[in-house]
Amino acid sequence: MGAMMWLRPRAGFAFSKRDFVASLGAVTTEDLLLDDRFPRTNAYHPDWILGSASGGANSLWLTEWLMSVMELQSGMRVLDLGCGLAASSIFLAREFGAQVWATDLWFDVSANEPRIRDAGVADLVTPVHADARTLPFEAEFFDAIISIDSFPYFGTDDHYLAYLARFLKPGGVIGIASAGMIEEIEGDPPEHLASWWKAEPAMWCLHSPKWWRRHWERSGIVDVEVADTMPDGWHYWLKWHRTVAPDNHVEMNSIEQDGGAHLGYVRVVARRRKDAVIEEPITSIPSEYEAKPLLRDQGTE
Ligand SMILES: C[S@@+](CC[C@H](N)C(=O)[O-])C[C@H]1O[C@@H](n2cnc3c(N)ncnc32)[C@H](O)[C@@H]1O
Repeated sequence: MGAMMWLRPRAGFAFSKRDFVASLGAVTTEDLLLDDRFPRTNAYHPDWILGSASGGANSLWLTEWLMSVMELQSGMRVLDLGCGLAASSIFLAREFGAQVWATDLWFDVSANEPRIRDAGVADLVTPVHADARTLPFEAEFFDAIISIDSFPYFGTDDHYLAYLARFLKPGGVIGIASAGMIEEIEGDPPEHLASWWKAEPAMWCLHSPKWWRRHWERSGIVDVEVADTMPDGWHYWLKWHRTVAPDNHVEMNSIEQDGGAHLGYVRVVARRRKDAVIEEPITSIPSEYEAKPLLRDQGTE
């Protein structure tokens, strides 16, 4: 496994609870996962949070942070795009009464069905196995779309927002929270990140709030309401890694050395403009073949 655990299915999740506890020494999981900044998340059992971990960030921390600038009301239809093991979807249903379509590519419906049922929200959360680029939903179906620690995998494509926004009602809101950059790296990565970036060139998909604001605003489809970084986000990135992947020294050392200079958590919230006209995507163009001479010296007889 490469150093970039954030971008990959996490082999680290396979270690046993005993190994995990031993690796923490005197610090308990509870200590590591409790934090005054996230009162809603604090109510969830650490074993459940760890058992639902599917990425390099604590999805509940990121979701709670995102929800502090997004208003979700009971009954709203929400797409949770790249939900992994659906912890964020369950959280949105339980905390806000939202109806959530928990959509993911790497994890199948069968991975999420039992956890959604056991969390008591089977009436609110529907697991969906789909690629973010070929979504099986009706246009303007959702009141809100969220994406936790996933959007950089598919959302940096200049065409993507126009594709995704068609599933959002006019005036609906889209919010993403994920690992990202405080500022864009111009030129080569700084020395302490160079070997990580070299081993995992996909790290270039991480961007700053300023980058995302420009990326979305120039589409003309949305108005960006928030684009910022989590204060001390690197500290939470590190804390989560110490909890779930204590052997991933490359990533932890880099984050520690960086100390929040470049790496952190990024959040962007935007509203679909009511006047935005989103064209249907072109999927085929009718054409009829008429034979023509291939070369000039073949003439036109
Ligand atoms: C780092 S994990 C984060 C999962 C979860 N949201 C969390 O925070 O724990 C990234 C997720 O993005 C999803 N993903 C990546 N590419 C995708 C795509 N093209 N369509 C849908 N989901 C995708 C993966 O399936 C994976 O679960």
